[in-house]
Amino acid sequence: MKPVFNRILFGGDYNPNQWPQDIWQEDMQMFKKANINSATINVFSWAQIQPSEHVYDFSELDQIVEMLSKEDKDIVLATATGALPAWMFKKYPEVGRTDYQGRHHKFGQRHNACPNSLVYQKYAAAIAGKLAERYGDNPHVTCWHINNEYQGDCYCEQCEKAFRVWLKDKYQTIDALNKAWNMSFWGHTVYEWDEIVLPNALSEGISHDKTAFAGISIDYRRFSSDSLLENFKMERDAIRRFDPTTPVTTNLMGTFKGLDYFKWAKEMDIVSWDNYPAYNTPWSLVSMTHDLMRGLKQQPFMLMEQTPSQQNWQPYNSLKKPGQMRAQSYQTIAHGADTIQFFQLRRSIGACEKFHGAVIEHVGHEETRVFRETADLGKELTQLWEIMGTGNHGKTAIIFDWDNYWALEYTSGPTIDLTYVDQIHQYYRYFYDQNIPVDMVSVTADLTDYDLVIAPVLYMVKEGVAEQLTDFVETGGTLVTTYMSGIVDQSDNVHLGGYPGPLRQLAGIWVEEIDALAPEQTNQVQINERLKGSSRLVSDLIHLEGAEALAVYTSNFYAGMPAVTKHTYGKGTVFYFGTQLDQDAFDLLMTAVKETAAIEPIIAAQTAIEITRRQSESHDYYFLINFEAEAQPLPAYFVGKTDLLSGAILEKNQTLSQYTTYIIKEERHK
Ligand code: GLA
Ligand code: ZN
Repeated sequence: MKPVFNRILFGGDYNPNQWPQDIWQEDMQMFKKANINSATINVFSWAQIQPSEHVYDFSELDQIVEMLSKEDKDIVLATATGALPAWMFKKYPEVGRTDYQGRHHKFGQRHNACPNSLVYQKYAAAIAGKLAERYGDNPHVTCWHINNEYQGDCYCEQCEKAFRVWLKDKYQTIDALNKAWNMSFWGHTVYEWDEIVLPNALSEGISHDKTAFAGISIDYRRFSSDSLLENFKMERDAIRRFDPTTPVTTNLMGTFKGLDYFKWAKEMDIVSWDNYPAYNTPWSLVSMTHDLMRGLKQQPFMLMEQTPSQQNWQPYNSLKKPGQMRAQSYQTIAHGADTIQFFQLRRSIGACEKFHGAVIEHVGHEETRVFRETADLGKELTQLWEIMGTGNHGKTAIIFDWDNYWALEYTSGPTIDLTYVDQIHQYYRYFYDQNIPVDMVSVTADLTDYDLVIAPVLYMVKEGVAEQLTDFVETGGTLVTTYMSGIVDQSDNVHLGGYPGPLRQLAGIWVEEIDALAPEQTNQVQINERLKGSSRLVSDLIHLEGAEALAVYTSNFYAGMPAVTKHTYGKGTVFYFGTQLDQDAFDLLMTAVKETAAIEPIIAAQTAIEITRRQSESHDYYFLINFEAEAQPLPAYFVGKTDLLSGAILEKNQTLSQYTTYIIKEERHK
């Protein structure tokens, strides 16, 4: 597709309003030296641009916008609504949030507005509109950044009332709601809409993250995501009244649980996100998260934030080693980013982010490792314009679904150790390790272009989903699904008639019982004559109904029952993993899956180097990155080819030390 911007935005969060003006000029000089061409401004400036209820003061922002425009920077203009001004709290305490424990909050922190406060909504929309009216036709304003990292819940009375309205709209009648939430359980039947209360620690909550009524809590999650999305749309629409064309985004947070990002992405012109892996986050998980962010729209995205070096809010904030920031930036581009932006450009002097890395460090000059690495990267990126807008295409899709995320983790039993993202990630990692491209897709995605679809822990099978998967398999697709799939409907009520409910026929099995294994317990499995393995977490007790067993339990009272199965259905095949296998056993069976679906890696070579590919209509761009501590040999396929970044010809016997990155461009022959 045509790229959204006219160059690769390279810059990041910039807060000159936290600094005296003589520093601004230094900033401009240093940005030039760092090859920075863009700045994200006004993210938390509400208190400055609206100092009291009826007074707006754009004088400082005018100066900042003018200065950046003169320097020909692309401005990512935020709407400043991510933190409320103190005066608003003082005059209208209801703009604040009430937390899960029922405590109403005072002024402080950020991401602190009640999404259903009419006062907040009125002033948030007003400021967004005023900003668009004032700056919308400035050609340097190339992107709108609404709010910041939308997140968090509110359990106040305004939200309770709004929840009832949301429910009325969804269920129409109180009977339908009672049925959906199975309210005859524990005598919860309600007769009037105003008997419904929010599910928090004072009502349905069990410890911090469990609930007596998952149906209610899942609806609350949907409502909470929708409430914040309404806030986003309100600001977007206010901007659109004055500026019909500049792309609008808000910065997302990867696998963040609170918001249904597939739903959000439909309202955004371009997805952007903030990438903050910890020192020990697996690279496969970072890669999966990028693919998920690309998958939200199946389009290139913006990297709105990453740290040039260090974070401050992790337990251990390791430095990025020399070359690491560069490698991570290329990993981001490899998986579909069209911008590289940092948090932040100048390190703040006070409050909780003074230990957060920045392009300009506290020392204030450019003679720093971080500055040099940033400048070098900025220069390199100017050569890569042709890659922007290009796509990543896989034949394998992994389904990610926020309803499932919520439902699986709310459910009480069979084990507390089932976590959604980890379950998805283990499948992703299998493909990642072999450099097989994967698309992360929604549960309603069009699957016709895929050969293989993986639907791990598809606990909640909503209306239409089983039909869609059935079509996919019938016409020749290969499907993998697992334990804790097909169990409930969209309201968290069980699909009766045996697990995995609407997937039972497709999988050719019936799961009679689900055993939970404590961390110290394992089961033994036999995979073929030679290979034995072990399994943990959960064990489905499976009966075959047309499927064949690929692995059987050899321990426990269910020894002899199938643990993993394969079923031919229509022209396709369904694999069902009934337990969490050890790595070797898992890999072996996944190889059977891969071969059935005839899935190929990007290049046919075993290598520990991450190889990703973006494709234009005529060219392939291969990204080679070594994240391993040990140097890795260059795969033979690339010998004699030219690295786009350095212009060097890659030689035989060459090795890639840690964080070495090459980009190789090749014409595609059909
Ligand atoms: C988030 C926020 C930023 C900043 C960074 C620090 O991503 O959006 O404002 O606080 O974290 O890592
Ligand atoms: Zn509220």
